[in-house]
Amino acid sequence: MRYTEIKLLIFPFLLFLIFFGADSPRTRWYTLLNQQEHHALETLIWASGAWLSMRLIRAFVWQRRPKQLSGAAPPMLLQHIVNLLILAFAAACIAQSVFDQPLTGFWATSGVVGIVLGIALRGIIADFFSGIALELDPPFKIGDFIEVRMGGEPVIGRVTEVNWRATQIVPRDSTNTVYVPNSLMGSIAVNNLYHPFGRTRFELLLWFDPGISHDRVVRVLMSAAMSTDCIVQDPPPDVVAARYNASGVEYVVRYWLTPEVSPTGARNRLMAAITDFARRGDLQVAFPRREIVFEPKPEAVRDPLEVKIRFLERNRFFRSWQPEELKAIATHLHTRKCPPGTRILTFGEPGNSMFVVAEGLLEVSLPSGPERQSLVVAKLVGGDFFGEMAMLTGDPRSASVTSVTETVLYEIRRQHIQDLVQRRPEIAEAMSHVAAERRLQNQNAELALDSETPSEEHLNLRMLILQKIHSLFG
Ligand code: CMP
Repeated sequence: MRYTEIKLLIFPFLLFLIFFGADSPRTRWYTLLNQQEHHALETLIWASGAWLSMRLIRAFVWQRRPKQLSGAAPPMLLQHIVNLLILAFAAACIAQSVFDQPLTGFWATSGVVGIVLGIALRGIIADFFSGIALELDPPFKIGDFIEVRMGGEPVIGRVTEVNWRATQIVPRDSTNTVYVPNSLMGSIAVNNLYHPFGRTRFELLLWFDPGISHDRVVRVLMSAAMSTDCIVQDPPPDVVAARYNASGVEYVVRYWLTPEVSPTGARNRLMAAITDFARRGDLQVAFPRREIVFEPKPEAVRDPLEVKIRFLERNRFFRSWQPEELKAIATHLHTRKCPPGTRILTFGEPGNSMFVVAEGLLEVSLPSGPERQSLVVAKLVGGDFFGEMAMLTGDPRSASVTSVTETVLYEIRRQHIQDLVQRRPEIAEAMSHVAAERRLQNQNAELALDSETPSEEHLNLRMLILQKIHSLFG
């Protein structure tokens, strides 16, 4: 027996013993007591016995129950009903055995009183019986997240208690409590959100201009959803185009969350990722239109070369390049569209081109450990580039790169950038800076070291890479 259980039982038990002992024929004063005093003592025995029984049930049934029922709290309603029955039983026993009262009259009177009370308190009684029905056939457990609609906005929250009158729901991300009368709970549709999979699906609606291709929008939205870490990745999120409306095409991002994750927080992070990825991909969310457009949208007619130049201009890496340099590179950009799971570069192979990610999500991985299993060291998204190390230094590929979502890439071959790198040393310097950082990151990942790296090591690596670039490009 635990200390808390002893504390709970000690007083009712002592009281019961005292009253029981006091009314025993073996005591000296037994014969001295008059009849009223005997009745009082017997009543107290019954009352303390009832109290002790309620405490025993609380200690050994209710308080131990959570451990058997995987964390479900003991239902308050059931506790109240059991206590009430014990009290009624004790009252009936007192009436009959102490005061010799026949109970038939009592039941008859209580029937009439019951009818009157029943009419007066019909709401409360309906709540009470609906509460019992909820206990017997529960559509949810204490602690479950449910959605109930009571006319206006739906209430979504965690069930904290079902008692006599109401089911208590604490809405998500809120500190207040909603009390839904049990009778209402029994008559409305209840959506148990995380049952039976332990996760639930949420949706985010966005609108894009019909001139922007479906594939581009899906790629951007999928990359954003798959790189938001609080979203469940198995099953993966998906994106569907739902309908046309005044704002454009309505896209729905559908994603799963587990109960510990706040839907508002997850939505906020997903929105932030979408805003970032859409900006990188030059996609704008559509707003309700008010003017009639007679000309085709620029997006639809834009010259592919123009699209590539604009893409390079937006990229931080090409920001310092002259317009004619951008144009020269853009004319040689080779567009590649890769389905999810395509191995674009393989560790250790030779390579003479680099890639800029137009849209999509990719993973950079290294073979590591004795079994050479794949260790993901980085993720690449729209606007990032990769493959620069082998192209610029002539070394074999330092990592493998695989597409996670459908991906659009622009490929730049060594012969097309050669002149430019020779003429503009700062380009090689900027690339060597990124390359050195990546190499260090990979070394650290492999050695499972802290990502803080001494700057001297960074400098040495950078010098080594620069030397290699100069010897290859002259
Ligand atoms: P390269 O060695 O030519 O081929 C593999 C490419 O993966 C490499 O060039 C880099 O562009 C890229 N890469 C390697 N490590 C990382 C990293 N830690 N972060 C981002 N990209 C990387």
